[in-house]
Amino acid sequence: MNLEEIQQYLKSILTEKRYNHSVGTSKMAKELAKIYGLDEEKAEFAGLIHDIAKEMSKEEADEYIKSHGIILDEIEKEVPALLHAKLGASIAKEKYNADEQVQNAILYHTTGHKNMDTFAKIIYIADKIEENRTFDGVEELREIAKKDLDKAILRNIDYVIEKAIRNQRKIHPDTTDLKKYILEKK
Ligand SMILES: [Fe+2]
Ligand SMILES: [Fe+2]
Repeated sequence: MNLEEIQQYLKSILTEKRYNHSVGTSKMAKELAKIYGLDEEKAEFAGLIHDIAKEMSKEEADEYIKSHGIILDEIEKEVPALLHAKLGASIAKEKYNADEQVQNAILYHTTGHKNMDTFAKIIYIADKIEENRTFDGVEELREIAKKDLDKAILRNIDYVIEKAIRNQRKIHPDTTDLKKYILEKK
């Protein structure tokens, strides 16, 4: 399966906006993989498919969970948007034979996780800073990501925490764990 075929498939299942975001993430992932000396093609692939499950209907998702024996944590049950990471990782394996590194990168791309390797970190941050993202500070975050992945991730987690506080929403423990882990490592 080449990237063009995957793009055609994604075009058929995602909104235009999400499709463009997927292509943007793919490009950014490739760029970062080059900088950090990782497999560029694999990063392009993972970036492209990271949101493959994002627009499944609730019925489709429920059906997939049941038929694949997927177990959800408490927050995933409460926040359906988190689900697409877990389902996406599973679909990546099933449909494209994605290896464990790609599966983990997709699994961790929404919340982050302290077990992320450099490849997963690249997908995580590429998702947040790809060319279609426009939030305040995104330019600066792009520059940081090209020099220091952990620093960019910390900066992003702080955005996530601020936003969660403002909207009185919960923060996934994997996200706070990751922050703690990076800070302790420094
Ligand atoms: Fe996502
Ligand atoms: Fe995404």
